[in-house]
Amino acid sequence: MSEITIAIDGFSSCGKSTLAKELANKLNYIYVDSGAMYRAVTLHLINTGILKDGHFIKEQVLNELNDIEIRFEYNRDQKKSETYLNGENIEKDIRTLAISKQVSAISAIGEVRTKLVKIQQDLGQMGGVIMDGRDIGTVVFPHAEVKLFMTADNDIRAQRRYLELIDKGECISLEDVKKSIARRDYLDMNREIAPLSKAEDAIEIDNSELSEEDQLELALKIINEKKLALQTAN
Ligand code: DC
Repeated sequence: MSEITIAIDGFSSCGKSTLAKELANKLNYIYVDSGAMYRAVTLHLINTGILKDGHFIKEQVLNELNDIEIRFEYNRDQKKSETYLNGENIEKDIRTLAISKQVSAISAIGEVRTKLVKIQQDLGQMGGVIMDGRDIGTVVFPHAEVKLFMTADNDIRAQRRYLELIDKGECISLEDVKKSIARRDYLDMNREIAPLSKAEDAIEIDNSELSEEDQLELALKIINEKKLALQTAN
């Protein structure tokens, strides 16, 4: 059987990318972090001075889009794929709080989405891809064979994100992390174009009480069952 497409959507800090990376390693699939692409555009707009403290002139953003080239390259030493913006490795630069705070506004721009969705669909056209994001099962791959929708308790998500940020040396309180996550959820769910929503045929995984191993096991079970059902149907 040819390789399938796996779409993983959900709120921020729900463990989507952790699960997606582990699944990709287990299944030998390509992992694509679509959020990294929106973060890369945001970084570029900050670097060019077009985006300042969350403010921008839309026309300037649109004029800049043709000058943004994003690609992923697998780092064999780190055993993970890294994001490149116009030839430069920006994997670390896009994971900061400053980018997290401004990325939702940029990802709400229709033309930005059109450009990135096209790249995402091109990357997934051969199957054998696991992509995580907010609109993968609804817009990017509406026909993905497996769609997972991740959720977790708000306090647990905030605690996880807080520990990640502290680990990276960011100076922030748990309360501020909670506020930042709640704001991003609100913006991602309420934007006009491709808002975060669960595809009708997505299977929800609440991982509040699940260990990484349990979560991986559950997702693999869902995927294997789906593959079996597809084989039987053929
Ligand atoms: O997954 P992440 O937290 O790195 O994503 C960063 C932001 O990018 C997220 O707040 C909303 C946006 N995003 C999106 O709009 N659509 C996607 N498919 C992925 C991310």
